[in-house]
Amino acid sequence: MAAAKLIDGKTIAAALRKRVGKGVAELVAARHVKPGLATVLVGDDPASEVYVRSKGRVAVELGMASFDHRLPASTTEADLLQLIARLNGDPAVHGILVQLPLPRHIDTPHVLLAVDPDKDVDGFHPMNVGRLGSIAAGAPLDFPVPCTPLGCSMLLADALGSLRGKDAVIVGRSTLVGRPVAQLLLRSDCTVTIAHSRTRDLPALCRTADILVVAIGKAEFVRGDWIKPGAAVIDVGINRLPAPGGKTKLVGDVAFDEAREIAGHLTPVPGGVGPMTVACLMYNTLQEARRRAGLPFAAI
Ligand code: GUN
Repeated sequence: MAAAKLIDGKTIAAALRKRVGKGVAELVAARHVKPGLATVLVGDDPASEVYVRSKGRVAVELGMASFDHRLPASTTEADLLQLIARLNGDPAVHGILVQLPLPRHIDTPHVLLAVDPDKDVDGFHPMNVGRLGSIAAGAPLDFPVPCTPLGCSMLLADALGSLRGKDAVIVGRSTLVGRPVAQLLLRSDCTVTIAHSRTRDLPALCRTADILVVAIGKAEFVRGDWIKPGAAVIDVGINRLPAPGGKTKLVGDVAFDEAREIAGHLTPVPGGVGPMTVACLMYNTLQEARRRAGLPFAAI
């Protein structure tokens, strides 16, 4: 059996970052507007710290301004809302990212609702969730779309070209990944099924998929014999497994070595979806800065 073509998220993300950097330079030259991204991290979760640091670093690399706000885990919801109100009103800030998860004593939906929908570069505000949920086939994505789902759809477009008429199965119904991926694939004229932990005979359903997107958060959950020969498989999972020598190893939600023998296209973990998420965040921030400058949405 021929091995799957690997979908090289690192290279595709680097190309997107390059286009965003060019867009930033053009915006600065034409309108003297420097896109600004504010990141807000509450608490000291080490994984979140790594993500937030890399978002700030990439923003600066692309010529944007980065405003990092670190708050202690004991921060009250009122204090966090006050910071968000200040960022909403700051003309130098075009994108606001509140890193999730938030500490338990903070009401996450309440915080997401407080972010100005035009600065919501994560696409998590109910207004933007609703825009994506009601989008017509092929309509422009001229509002912020969640970054990981947007990255998945860009990887699929790069690998397959048109997605029209393809049967897509999404494993995972989360509001952050599974549901927005479903909306994006519907917009691209796929026939979409969302599967989840209560789905009956999941392996058989997955075997019907031309496109299989897996975002379930369980290491190597989807096996090779769940995959239709030649299917495009997008693995959104990032799981740590113990490795020899007391180390850990990153694996996805798909059993990679098995899937590689069956799939037509496959994302590796790491180096697949992950790099796209940060690149799409920069893309969303540029789009919001362009909007603020009175420029139209530009598919770059
Ligand atoms: N935590 C894990 N992924 C994300 C993301 O894409 N955005 C935010 N804000 N928090 C996250």
